[in-house]
Amino acid sequence: MTTTVRTRVAIVGAGPAGLLLSHLLADAGIDSVVIDQRSRAEIESTIRAGILEQGTVDVLTRTGASTRVLTDGSRHDGIELRFDGHGHRIDFPGLVGRSVWLYPQHEALKDLIAARIAAGQDLRFGTTAVGMEGIDGDRPTVIATTAEEEDLRIEAEFVVGADGSRSVVRGAVSGASAGGYFREYPFAWFGILCEAPPSAHELIYSNAPDGFALISQRSATVQRMYFQCEPDADPNALSEAQIWDTLQARVPGTALTEGPIFQRDVLRFRSFVARELRRGRAVLVGDAAHTVPPTGAKGMNLAVADVVLLDRALRALLLDGDERLIDGFAESASHRIWKAQHFSWWMTSMLHVAPGATDFDRRRQLGELRSVVESDAGRTFLAEAYTGWPLPE
Ligand code: PHB
Repeated sequence: MTTTVRTRVAIVGAGPAGLLLSHLLADAGIDSVVIDQRSRAEIESTIRAGILEQGTVDVLTRTGASTRVLTDGSRHDGIELRFDGHGHRIDFPGLVGRSVWLYPQHEALKDLIAARIAAGQDLRFGTTAVGMEGIDGDRPTVIATTAEEEDLRIEAEFVVGADGSRSVVRGAVSGASAGGYFREYPFAWFGILCEAPPSAHELIYSNAPDGFALISQRSATVQRMYFQCEPDADPNALSEAQIWDTLQARVPGTALTEGPIFQRDVLRFRSFVARELRRGRAVLVGDAAHTVPPTGAKGMNLAVADVVLLDRALRALLLDGDERLIDGFAESASHRIWKAQHFSWWMTSMLHVAPGATDFDRRRQLGELRSVVESDAGRTFLAEAYTGWPLPE
């Protein structure tokens, strides 16, 4: 049996991009249907990054998508870069008048899902997109399978692929150029969550001779930390004592407060941008359009920036029949995407120790770090990018 539903915008993916877009469109009176192959519980419990740019927080709070970020999240006014035995603080408000917020992505997702359900959003979990029809015409359709294994057709005026790095919509948008622009890195992050109080006031990004470490946080009682490892490292191969020894050795000068480790994972590093972001009446946003390595904390923020642009373009198209913004969407979005790609690549290459790095490479890298922290221009460049370039009004 096939069920057909009609809506104005079909959104594939209930991550930050898909949910926020449905929220913004609803505000303009534009109906959408959002589907995701995962269950609500899975979406709300998957651990992802934790840093929100000032502009992301402004959008989430101003539109009522998530106000808990202000009460349950915490503002961070700086980060520390540590190398060669010394820490150097980058003071965000002092340099650029903005800050960032530590608020885990899955908490933002809980808020968004609750807000959409309260508003009566047609939001279907366990529903898998399997293909696309008619994206070159004016009745693009998403073909999906429901949790009950029934066929579903969503006929829309526009289709948005917000379905993550393994996007199904991307195949239809990119066609033969599905390969995109791609870069892989010869290292990964070993990440842990542990029960302990914070070891430092702010995040520490440390370049140590044996490799990188990041001391991040989650709350007063839970901490998130990472250290550079091999891409094929097995998260279960190390004992807790070995993990603490590795972390401790990579942040000389700070005594980490240890506690029981209750989650461990290995994060692969990739940079990716789809070759086409739009085809006819379909576009890609968020991880479906691009992936960045986590060192610059840009992933979710870039998804939100895509959505802010797309919301404006879809309002113009669907409310006023004005195609100019949607015609310029791929070009406008790509400017920020490539700036974020550059920043994420730059932070990654500046802070990690590449396998096979020579003495020259190592000394050059320390020279680069010094050039950044010892110059107002260098610190400001980093602070501007980390806290996020302004979003369009
Ligand atoms: C995190 O807390 O998970 C986190 C923070 C900063 C990053 C990446 C990840 O750059």
